[in-house]
Amino acid sequence: MAATDVERFSNEEKRNLSLGGHVGFDSLPDQLVSKSVAQGFSFNILCVGETGIGKSTLMNTLFNTTFETEEASHYENVVRLRPRTYDLQESNVQLKLTIVDAVGFGDQINKDESYRPIVDYIDTQFENYLQEELKIRRSLFNYHDTRIHVCLYFITPTGHSLKSLDLVTMKKLDSKVNIIPIIAKSDTISKSELHKFKIKIMSELVSNGVQIYQFPTDDEAVAEINSVMNAHLPFAVVGSTEEVKVGNKMVRARQYPWGVVQVENESHCDFVKLREMLIRVNMEDLREQTHTRHYELYRRCKLEEMGFKDTDPDNQPFSLQETYETKRKEFLCELQRKEEEMRQMFVNKVKETESELKEKERELHEKFEHLKRIHQEEKRKVEEKRRELEEEMNAFNRRKVAVETLQCQSLQATSQQPLKKDKDKKNFFSLPSSCSITSGRYVN
Ligand code: GTP
Ligand code: MG
Repeated sequence: MAATDVERFSNEEKRNLSLGGHVGFDSLPDQLVSKSVAQGFSFNILCVGETGIGKSTLMNTLFNTTFETEEASHYENVVRLRPRTYDLQESNVQLKLTIVDAVGFGDQINKDESYRPIVDYIDTQFENYLQEELKIRRSLFNYHDTRIHVCLYFITPTGHSLKSLDLVTMKKLDSKVNIIPIIAKSDTISKSELHKFKIKIMSELVSNGVQIYQFPTDDEAVAEINSVMNAHLPFAVVGSTEEVKVGNKMVRARQYPWGVVQVENESHCDFVKLREMLIRVNMEDLREQTHTRHYELYRRCKLEEMGFKDTDPDNQPFSLQETYETKRKEFLCELQRKEEEMRQMFVNKVKETESELKEKERELHEKFEHLKRIHQEEKRKVEEKRRELEEEMNAFNRRKVAVETLQCQSLQATSQQPLKKDKDKKNFFSLPSSCSITSGRYVN
């Protein structure tokens, strides 16, 4: 259909026709209800609050059951998100309830990054849903939706003001999840202090620009109760699974030496208000807000980050195919650039190694030449020494021969002239002044 045809069609006047009798499409809402009931619902609650603030007790009290709980230690190095899913049924309605605990929140010495694991967890659930939506064969109909529908933020009942950790965390979460702040263990704070504390909390949230969930007032059926309840925020709650006898009735309460705090007594705490608002009146709105507001924001940012746009720079509709092609081209260019960069890096590295090797070779050569020179010098010295020794040996041999000759002559003379014996003997032993005979050895 051409663009002009679409325009003409949409501008055409719509005509109202009256029906001749009952057709049956007025049962559409009923069909929707029965289909939804058959399909079941999912609801995911995130509990953020200090260790031991009463998160598990409140969950047990809210759903009037006992969920498995595990006491957290105060020595967690980082905040850890622990989801647990339960199948609940009330009348014929099935509810898949997931309670996610932020274990170790507020226990680290450095709390700067305490909010990050919580933000990451929420984003991961959005990402999983987006990936399912982007699949060619998607099965959103029976997809287990784990996106967080509400964050119950447990405020410590100090009576003073919010901690900076509370403000920073709520600020980081407010664009990602519906936050309902609650004052935990409100039985530990007096009535007048609680009133002032509530006012202080609300003014601090406003002055720090923290957006908490507002119960919707656009639906006439619930507008009145919701607007009244908005004025009661943050709810001051008390949790207990203990049953105490009050009058002739067993009620859930906390018993103290001085009296009993009844969980479901509206003059004692806001537990009933919280349960009404969270479960009975606004559960569907929380689910809807999660999808239409928080998830939509995540999806838009994510797709824009991936390069998808609805319109091109000339304000013309941008098709998915065009976006894909542009992104593909960008990606290929980037790949080519990276390849070239790596090739250049490799060449540089080879050159560097080559020059290093050359330098090493030159050093080795120099070392070799030096050793060669030393060796030659030593060889020359040894030669000189050998020559000197040879000369000495020759001189010695000459003297030896001379001595032997003289000995022979003397012997002969002795045999011929015995009378001249003493005189010749004296001559024979008259050696040069530089020579002497010691113990029969000739020493120079
Ligand atoms: P972790 O999961 O270990 O972080 O603790 P938690 O926040 O789940 O607290 P939990 O519900 O285990 O409660 C801790 C202690 O606080 C228990 O002794 C509860 O009985 C007590 N407690 C829970 N709710 C309240 C309350 O409303 N008022 C008072 N005074 N004590 C409470
Ligand atoms: Mg717990």
